[in-house]
Amino acid sequence: MHASAGGLARHPIQYQDVWFCLINWTVTILPIQHNVSQTQALARKWRPKSFAELTGQEHVVRALTNALEQNRLHHAYLLTGTRGVGKTTIARILAKSLNCEQGVTATPCGQCASCKQIDSGNFIDMIELDAASNTQVDHMRELLENTLYAPTYARFKVYIIDEVHMLSKSAFNAMLKTLEEPPAHVKFVLATTDPQKIPVTVLSRCLQFNLKQIPQKQIGDHLQKILEIEGIPINDAISMLLIARAAQGSMRDALSLLDQAIAFGQGQIDESSVRNMLGIVDQSNLFELLEALVHKDGTRLMSLADELDAQCFSFDGALQDLAAILHQIAMAQIVPQALSEDLPERTRIFSLATCFTPEDIQVLYQVALHGRSDLSLAPDELAGFTMTLMRMLAFMPVDPSLDQAQPVLPSRIERPNSKDSHTSRIDTHDTSNRTSPIEQVRLEWSELIPHLKLTGMSKMLAQHSEAKFISEQEIELFVPVEHKHLLEKKYQERIQLALDTYWKKSIKLVFSIGNLTGLTPVALQQQAEQVKQIQAIAAIEQDPVVQDLIENFDAKLIASSIKSIQK
Ligand SMILES: Nc1ncnc2c1ncn2[C@@H]1O[C@H](COP(=O)(O)OP(=O)(O)O)[C@@H](O)[C@H]1O
Ligand SMILES: [Mg+2]
Ligand SMILES: [Zn+2]
Repeated sequence: MHASAGGLARHPIQYQDVWFCLINWTVTILPIQHNVSQTQALARKWRPKSFAELTGQEHVVRALTNALEQNRLHHAYLLTGTRGVGKTTIARILAKSLNCEQGVTATPCGQCASCKQIDSGNFIDMIELDAASNTQVDHMRELLENTLYAPTYARFKVYIIDEVHMLSKSAFNAMLKTLEEPPAHVKFVLATTDPQKIPVTVLSRCLQFNLKQIPQKQIGDHLQKILEIEGIPINDAISMLLIARAAQGSMRDALSLLDQAIAFGQGQIDESSVRNMLGIVDQSNLFELLEALVHKDGTRLMSLADELDAQCFSFDGALQDLAAILHQIAMAQIVPQALSEDLPERTRIFSLATCFTPEDIQVLYQVALHGRSDLSLAPDELAGFTMTLMRMLAFMPVDPSLDQAQPVLPSRIERPNSKDSHTSRIDTHDTSNRTSPIEQVRLEWSELIPHLKLTGMSKMLAQHSEAKFISEQEIELFVPVEHKHLLEKKYQERIQLALDTYWKKSIKLVFSIGNLTGLTPVALQQQAEQVKQIQAIAAIEQDPVVQDLIENFDAKLIASSIKSIQK
């Protein structure tokens, strides 16, 4: 997370850090100890102390609560999930549940000595080990020998081993026997971000729970609640959503970002400082881009891009956000009821949804994704970004209400002058009223190729060429530089012959090297397949049976395994 380095520098020193510093530098740090509690990081201050305080992870809480209430406890639990979703937190609550002086319970009192000591992390019978820094087998042996002795004080000795996947092979082996038949007074809670690195022999002896990334909405609500209690003024609703999104499902990251936002905004929080801190382009700039696209206003698009450039925002982030908005527009068109009620830009999204067809949005979305992956290859970021915008423009249909002769791009691309004279030969669909001239020529070429009955390399050349101009007298084709090796005389002659045969007269065929829009018939076909794939994934995701499996059985959809059966 790009923000965390700055965060560390800005954050006041924490208790543990002070202790650490004391060992290293003794005296110099001492004065800081006075206000440690006031300046505690939010993530630590707000560690949930009971299952009820947790956000999300209901499936884990339900299972653990039932086990505790029915006294059917397993001896080893494995909690998996990315950083900051509650693994350590749940392990500690479980330790309290097992050792609360009021008895084994799903709602530990939080008041007794055991609960209090566990909360502050110095309970003698709760042994926390960070496997990342203790990978050795000796350490593990020592720890395991200790399991034989009864707890000093408590009902259970609870061993919490964090990042357990980091243990060495021999350490895992040493652990196996104890995991198989642990003494009755011992419970293990293992936690990891990477369960795939854990040997199956260990996995099979643990009861595994997969913690989920926390949904943005829940993170946003949690942050809001914390700010209210902390008495920190917040001037808008969007800031929390922005932080929640940047945290990518991790509550700890969200809270660290919130800490930074508070420092950044000097005690209060508003949208523009949060955007600044996160390096996020203002949404309204992106909406303006889309509105310029609706009006096919190339000049406005370029000046908006210049503005973004001047503000030094990340174009990668801008394209990511643009794709997110296009996704929301697609939702507004296809499943409006699924669009969150409290989306800040809801009206703008719905109004754009009526300006584009669903197909337009699919294509624009694809162009945004491609533009993002091409960004690193572009001459510079601004060029990559504006190229993507121009590609979007090239895809925009000509509005029938506008003057058809008005060119979409201020380009050298000519319109086919005798368009209708050969349409009887090419089975073009009637797309004339919604395709741009450049798109029209491209489509005609794509559809002409099968009629030419080409094979082998000459077919390849045709499919990798993009038409600039088509008429019954002349065809002008562009071959991208990366395929110029296909431009051999014999393949050109075969295409020439096929064209002459098709039109039953001699056609002038001109090849040049270079890119027009990069959308050759091959590229168009790939794009169509991608759109199909995206639709297929969406359809499967929305299938009620699949949803049921995901909800109730913790199933995971592997998008890459979704394949069309009719290739
Ligand atoms: N599910 C959650 N609900 C509320 N806060 C959480 C949750 N998960 C993490 N946090 C916050 O993040 C901090 C770190 O969480 P922790 O449980 O240590 O994460 P990890 O999964 O990395 O072990 C906690 O102190 C708490 O403030
Ligand atoms: Mg942890
Ligand atoms: Zn208690």
